[in-house]
Amino acid sequence: MPAGLAIEAVDLEKSYGPTRALAGLDLDVAAGTILGVLGPNGSGKTTAVRVLTTLLRPDRGTARVDGFDVVTQATEVRRRIGLAGQSAALDESLTGSANLVMIGQLCRLPRRRTQQRAEELLSQFDLADAGDRGVKTYSGGMRRRLDLAASLVSRPSILFLDEPTTGLDPRSRAVMWGIIRTLAADGTTVFLTTQYLEEADQLADRIVVIDRGSVIAQGTSEELKAEVGGDRIGVTVAPESNLAIAREVLARHAHGEVHVDAERRVVNASVTAGARSIPAIAAAMSAAGVVMDDLGIARPSLDDVFLTLTGHFADPVADPNEKAAVA
Ligand SMILES: Nc1ncnc2c1ncn2[C@@H]1O[C@H](COP(=O)(O)OP(=O)(O)OP(=O)(O)O)[C@@H](O)[C@H]1O
Ligand SMILES: [Mg+2]
Repeated sequence: MPAGLAIEAVDLEKSYGPTRALAGLDLDVAAGTILGVLGPNGSGKTTAVRVLTTLLRPDRGTARVDGFDVVTQATEVRRRIGLAGQSAALDESLTGSANLVMIGQLCRLPRRRTQQRAEELLSQFDLADAGDRGVKTYSGGMRRRLDLAASLVSRPSILFLDEPTTGLDPRSRAVMWGIIRTLAADGTTVFLTTQYLEEADQLADRIVVIDRGSVIAQGTSEELKAEVGGDRIGVTVAPESNLAIAREVLARHAHGEVHVDAERRVVNASVTAGARSIPAIAAAMSAAGVVMDDLGIARPSLDDVFLTLTGHFADPVADPNEKAAVA
């Protein structure tokens, strides 16, 4: 495993009966960085997390976490990782504080240290006032925070977060993002799965897009956006001007196809030089006698990236394997 990699997976395969959840998954995560793993329902995110956290044996392929093999050196791996799963692993009948103390005992931390750590985490996660209340009285956002706190009791250097903010309201999500950023700033490596493009955009140093159990694209958010065509320039043509001429002018300055929306009188196309192309386009339009009502530039969103790559939006869609699994 190359130096500096906290996580490395090579050609992982995993099937549940006829359902291929992982179909040759390769990925790596540099130590101290956040990898965003973006994929729709059923694309294999949780399966990947379960293999990398030693909970599930792959059918094929290898994975190393902090240099240790997830199958043959599972104990070493477990010592270094934290996992906050999609379904929180909390004991409903206990208080928030007692949940954390129980985890500390499972990790064999000394009693006094465990108590201290629990208090520290409760206050860090804004749960100090709720620490003595039963978890069954917690809101969804509080549960997610406690679950994340539980994964940090043993101070793991590598953290797996499986959709940590799914179902949370915008405010709770922002709180969670702040916590994740702080952890990363302190040097924790984070493997974060999400269905939210904005979340990957906001938090991840690098993003891999997975679909049907393998990686279909990867890079920084900017690289992924550039891959689907870079910035787009849109010109709204005044009613007295000629749309066809505007189209010709734009075609000379853009790359790829020029899109024409005759109804809204807009022509738009990809440009490589971003905002720097604006003066030349404005001058050329003017020279050709085209009056512009509006001239704008837009970056593609990760939504555009996802749509281009997978042919469907990242919003919860029908699980493509579900029928096969039932049949
Ligand atoms: N225990 C299981 N038994 C049978 N099939 C399973 C099992 N767990 C997952 N699958 C199937 O494997 C595929 C990948 O599932 P996985 O849970 O890894 O996806 P995911 O990306 O985490 O989805 P979600 O976004 O819904 O959490 C899906 O088709 C799913 O139906
Ligand atoms: Mg999942």
